[in-house]
Amino acid sequence: MKNFSNKVAVITGAGSGMGRYLAILLAKAGANIAACEINQTTLAETVALLADYNVKVSSHILDVADKAAIEALPEQVIAQHGHVDLVFNNAGVTVDSSFEDLSENDWDWVFNINLQGVINSSRAFLPHLKQRPEAALINTSSIFGMIALERQSVYHTAKFAVRGFTECLAKEMKGSNVQIHCVHPGHIGTNIVTNGRMNKSEESANSMQRLVGKVMGLGNSQEELAAFFRNNGMHASRASQIILDGVRKNRSRIMVGADAKLMDLSQRLTPMHYEKLFPLFTLPLTLLRNKKPLKGMPVETSVETIKGTA
Ligand SMILES: NC(=O)c1ccc[n+]([C@@H]2O[C@H](COP(=O)([O-])OP(=O)(O)OC[C@H]3O[C@@H](n4cnc5c(N)ncnc54)[C@H](O)[C@@H]3O)[C@@H](O)[C@H]2O)c1
Repeated sequence: MKNFSNKVAVITGAGSGMGRYLAILLAKAGANIAACEINQTTLAETVALLADYNVKVSSHILDVADKAAIEALPEQVIAQHGHVDLVFNNAGVTVDSSFEDLSENDWDWVFNINLQGVINSSRAFLPHLKQRPEAALINTSSIFGMIALERQSVYHTAKFAVRGFTECLAKEMKGSNVQIHCVHPGHIGTNIVTNGRMNKSEESANSMQRLVGKVMGLGNSQEELAAFFRNNGMHASRASQIILDGVRKNRSRIMVGADAKLMDLSQRLTPMHYEKLFPLFTLPLTLLRNKKPLKGMPVETSVETIKGTA
């Protein structure tokens, strides 16, 4: 798909981070947007930001973990836009906890959003995407769908599965009109830690956060980690630009950021001990990462949390 002009793009998790900037960049490129989000306030903020562009925008309050709501979504989007060309299954959450301290409720929360949401949306939209001259389905995994660190068991399980599901689908859809993409971001400065949950009984950081935190004199409460995470990753507008370039170039695997590429390389070189290589590049990349928004893009300010809504 060479350009997005006059296409209709569905984006889940459009109220923050990469979802918000995907919406803005797609609108800037002339695409009409169906913005979907569980958080009514941040969804409205995104829709307001899209008013600067001469495209049609529809807004859908949606919990991607709600199977019936996902199944009803294509009809709602088509009623407003006539068809669907692109679907970005971007919404995602995380829980920072050892597996032994992770409640079943937290496990189900992440799994139903990060994996079942992606699968149910793919199932619901594929028949509609197949009717278009060209279309794309873009599922967001993570570099944590390729490597594993401690305290992220449910996130890894879901993101590894998104990768397996999406790569399988890419093979099944090969030669069809539907491009299938799997996105693997590294550290992007978004609200994902703010919006996530942390096991309060053992608030602490995973090995990567501990390493960077130690050098940078960082505390380890959720608020401190969330602020550090938001302020020190690649800016979400740059990540979203990379994702859209990957769609334009029909890259089935879209790696976002030098950290993602180096972590991927590390696990190819030392499949069982890759984390031993991470200290070599974690800190330099943290210091060098481009944290500034793309020219002309708004700086995201909203940090509203959705924890209470699960
Ligand atoms: N930020 C990173 O470093 C990073 C790295 C790898 C992968 N990812 C993935 O990128 C995607 C986007 O995350 P982000 O970093 O922009 O985080 P974010 O928290 O800034 O944005 C995620 C959005 O999804 C929404 N959301 C959460 N649960 C939802 C639900 N049930 N239904 C609908 N919307 C829901 C949130 O309200 C939020 O607006 C996620 O899938 C995440 O796992 C992020």
